[in-house]
Order: sequence, then structure tokens, then C-alpha cells
Amino acid sequence: MRPKVLVTRKIPDRGINILKGQCDVEICQQDGPISRKELLKKLKSKKYDAVLCLLTEKIDDELLDAAGSNLKIVANYAVGFDNIDLKACTKHGIIATNTPNVLNQAVAEHTIALMMSIARRIPEADRWTRKGNYKGWDPNGFIGTEFNGKILGIIGAGRIGTVVAKICNKGFNMKVLYHDVAKNSYIEQETNARFVDLNTILRESDFVSLHVPAIETTRHLISHKEFAMMKKTAYIINTSRGPVINEDALIHALENKTIAGAALDVFECEPKLVCDPNNYQIVSHLDNVVFTPHIASATIEARQSMSELAAKNILAVLNGEMPITQINTDLKINGIKKGIITDATSYFYANNGMVIKNLTELQTALEKMDDQAFNYHVNSMKNDFANWVKNTIKDQVASALLEKSRTRSQAVNAVKHRLKIMIAA
Ligand code: DGY
Repeated sequence: MRPKVLVTRKIPDRGINILKGQCDVEICQQDGPISRKELLKKLKSKKYDAVLCLLTEKIDDELLDAAGSNLKIVANYAVGFDNIDLKACTKHGIIATNTPNVLNQAVAEHTIALMMSIARRIPEADRWTRKGNYKGWDPNGFIGTEFNGKILGIIGAGRIGTVVAKICNKGFNMKVLYHDVAKNSYIEQETNARFVDLNTILRESDFVSLHVPAIETTRHLISHKEFAMMKKTAYIINTSRGPVINEDALIHALENKTIAGAALDVFECEPKLVCDPNNYQIVSHLDNVVFTPHIASATIEARQSMSELAAKNILAVLNGEMPITQINTDLKINGIKKGIITDATSYFYANNGMVIKNLTELQTALEKMDDQAFNYHVNSMKNDFANWVKNTIKDQVASALLEKSRTRSQAVNAVKHRLKIMIAA
């Protein structure tokens, strides 16, 4: 019998076609997000082996209980996973996955589009022009701010923050400051970025861009005190999650011109534009803010790749293999209901459940791996291969070579080179 996959909303077809090769796929056809009631009803049928869900669905104990013991994986169609209770997934023995990396460029480009929109006042000028106001060139009309030489403050220097920093540094000659829970040598190497504390970012940056996950410690990370520290000429851009900014503090800062402006793709009480309906009148008339409706990853390239990655994660788990981008990593492979591997700690699983024990096997795995899987394992924050080589087989030289490898072929060559030297010795 073919496994059954529930897809909670229509998504681009690349992943769907992959799934259809091995599974029966049911795609919810409603316009807009599926209602909680409807999703619960479907899951209570206990017939699904996998659910491909969206950030609009809250995946928690109640839902997983309803799904029953058939369910093996919840594949989120998003990199952010604040909609998923990971502890509940692990408790139920269900793998949870997300879609990192494949949307980095799309989100970074949208972040920069927002920066430009607010700094060059594009939506405001567009509204004005449409009203027929343009009567001739004006030396004082819609004066904005340039990027060249300005300071960009990245809060959350992970995969997306790093791409934003690279584009702004290399394309616009911006200086980069960054703050995160740990230093990121890659962003420093690529953009000459300086690691500073949060207050320094706020005080010194001309543009502050948020790229942190929505977790307890980032809720209202930017509030009254933080806005008060920013330059009057500074802009804030949020393409991460709404609750990172305190809405009241933001409105206060915009109304009082404590900062120059804000550009937001996400909102604290999403999908509502404002939590407090009384604030609607205020924000809808403010010219120093630009809104987009959570579309930072909305490119055909990113959305098709997200669809593909979610599908590949599902097929891996249904075939008893490691998914590419598991997020509840405390659930070991032997915890997967159809798992085939028993000891997840002493080996490194590079791809598709392959067990690797030495450099020769790593070379083979890297050669077979697709670029998506490679990119997931090698990014500024993870560098799985280098860490595995350092910690497990304790080869510092190979580890250093792998750490520098940014592409799959560089990594293969690094391992080959190291093996050649070892054989010659
Ligand atoms: C994500 O992936 O988390 C975005 O917010 C939607 O693509």
C-alpha cells in the first residue's frame, strides 16, 4: 500500500510531483489556510503517514494525538518553525523538518527591496504620483537616503542575515555590524563584519535588519528602550517574525519620529496588520513605514525549492532514512518508526541514512550528495562535515580544509587531497 501524504494547502508543484511518484497525495483545496477544525477532522481519520504543513498551522500535542501512530513526519513548508511544538513531535516519535537555505536569496533580496523602498520612499512616491500630483521635477521632492558607506546592523547573523550582509557590503559598500548568540567567522571573512553587542548595533547602525527566529528570548527584542537608542535617521527592517518587535513601541517610534522609518514583512499579530484595532488608523496613514504581507520568500525559485525540499524530507523518512533538514534533532534516527539505523551518536549521517565512518566514505557521500543537502550541512552556522571530521575521526587538517570548502566540489577535492597526503605518508 502506498503511503498517504496530506498537504494542507496548494503549493508549487515540484515537490508534489516528487511525492506522487511514491505516495498518495491529498492536497487541501480551500482558499486560505486550512482551519484548525478541518485539519483536526482530517487527521482524526488516522490515515496519513506524513503531513506537509505551512506556517499558518499550529502543530501541537492535540493535533499529533489526533493523527495517531501512522504519522511519521511533519514537513514544514517554511524555514521558521515557531508554529511547531518540537517537544510534542519528539514525544510522539514524529520527525519535524523545515526548508532552510533554499530561500536565503529570496528573503535577502526582499529585505533589500524593503530597505530601498523605505529609504528612497518608493511606495510613498508611487501613491503621490498615482494621485496625479506630479507637475514637474522638484529639487526637494522625496529626498531619501543612500546606502553607500552606511552602517548595516544585522541582528541574527545566520544564513539569511549573512546573505543580506554580503549583498549590502559588496554591492553597496556598506559597513556591517552584527550580533548573534555566537560569533560567525564566515560573515566576518566575507564582509569584514564586526561582532558587537545589541546596544552598539542599535546606537551605530543606519539600517537595522532583523533575522532571528521567534523564540522566547527574541520576543519584543526591539521595544521602547531599543528604539530610543537608535539614530533618528535610522531605519529598521523586519523579515523575520512579527513578535520580535513590540508593536506599541514601533508605532510610538514612528509617530514621534524617534527613527526615520520601518519596513516590515511580518507583524506581531499576523495576519492582522495591528494587534490593537485602534492602531489601524494610525499606521495606515504613516508615510514612514512600508508593509508587505509576509512575502519575503515569494519567488518562484524559492517556493519550488521549498516544495522540493519538503517532499524529499518526507520521502526520506517514509523510506526509513534521515531527512535532509530535521529540526527536532533530539529525535534520533532509531526513534523513527521505520528507522533502520540504531546508533545516531557515533556516526555522522551525511545524507539519506548513509553511515559514514572514515574519510573515504565521506568522499563517496559528498560525491553522491545533491547540492541542496550539501548546502544544508555546510553553512556558516553548522559546518557539519568539518565538525564531524574534527570530533569523531580527529583529523584536524582535514577538518580545516573542509571548513574552508564552500561548494560540494571544493569539499570533495579537499577530502581527496587529504587522502592522497595520508597515503603518500
Ligand atoms: C519562512 O520560511 O519561515 C518564511 O517566513 C516563509 O517563507
